[in-house]
Amino acid sequence: MRIGVIGYGYWGPNLVRNFAETAGVEVKWCADNRADRLAIVKKRYPSIQVTEDAGQIFDDPDVNAVVIATPVSTHFKLVKQALERGKHVLVEKPMTRSVAEGQELLELAEKKGLVLMVDHTFIYTGAVRKIKEILDGGELGELHYLDSVRINLGLFQSDIDVLWDLAPHDLAILTYLVSAKPKFVSATGSDHTGRGLVDVAYMTVQYADNFLAHFHTNWLSPVKLRQMLIGGSRRMLVYNDMEPSEKVRVYDRGVKVTTEEGIHKTLVDYRTGDMWAPKLELREALGVECEHFLECVRFNKIPWSSAAAGLNVVRLLEGATKSLAKNGTRVAV
Ligand SMILES: NC(=O)c1ccc[n+]([C@@H]2O[C@H](COP(=O)([O-])OP(=O)(O)OC[C@H]3O[C@@H](n4cnc5c(N)ncnc54)[C@H](O)[C@@H]3O)[C@@H](O)[C@H]2O)c1
Repeated sequence: MRIGVIGYGYWGPNLVRNFAETAGVEVKWCADNRADRLAIVKKRYPSIQVTEDAGQIFDDPDVNAVVIATPVSTHFKLVKQALERGKHVLVEKPMTRSVAEGQELLELAEKKGLVLMVDHTFIYTGAVRKIKEILDGGELGELHYLDSVRINLGLFQSDIDVLWDLAPHDLAILTYLVSAKPKFVSATGSDHTGRGLVDVAYMTVQYADNFLAHFHTNWLSPVKLRQMLIGGSRRMLVYNDMEPSEKVRVYDRGVKVTTEEGIHKTLVDYRTGDMWAPKLELREALGVECEHFLECVRFNKIPWSSAAAGLNVVRLLEGATKSLAKNGTRVAV
């Protein structure tokens, strides 16, 4: 597979490095609007051709796939051009700025028989794959809630707010882990820099069966936290991505509520049993993801983070934006 990477800013270098190390892939091109970024590419990888015009990559018949790591507002146009020119695409999260754009790209990829994959990096981590295994095995019992905190100082984005920047990671994890369809989204947030983009936001996703998911995102936090709690009827789980080891811990804890007949008294029993930390695959997620993209292109497979998965995330973000504008009123999704 010969690829071209468009966008060599903050995240693009990680993609170029991982694809360059993936057997069966040649990074032929790298495009960026900024000459200084291309000079860095040339210094690090003399064999990669560089250009300020992404169109040159689309014109190259040798290139069969394109990786897009530019700001979100440019995704739709670049992905559309790439698909129209017959290239498979891996695009950064979030896939697009709206459901309508995402839907159009999904249909275009299907019509052309091309792979359209979204970089939902976290679902390729050993931790999230292990959590999926635990949930699918019924270890936690019936799911009650998922509660996520993803906060740090910056990086302020120019074209999106904190929800569109940070929540895609957790929404991708949520929609990967939980197959039920969400019903409602609500969000509140505030803008403290006067840019018209919220920098602190709280988002809630409601499901039909009493399962609730909550997301706290913040660009104004003095510390970096990456934590997710998943509560079930049998056990509970904590995923702390900042932990060097034991990122996932499963707690045999819970409550049992009984009502004593006759005296109409409610009794709550607390269970505090063992905690265990499963062994996790420690490979860099992006390396796993690059290999998966290659495999999907070669064997015409549907990616774990397909266009449909990307669209599920964009649908929740779009609902959250509508709710933000209505002071947190819940929006059907
Ligand atoms: N998966 C992850 O964990 C992760 C982490 C960070 C960022 N991202 C995503 O990666 C994307 C890029 O984010 P970033 O932080 O690297 O942004 P960035 O601004 O640091 O880099 C974007 C680069 O794209 C270039 N660019 C913009 N428009 C272009 C065009 N039309 N043609 C060629 N080059 C163009 C810019 O010059 C810049 O160098 C976003 O979608 C972001 O959400 C993903």
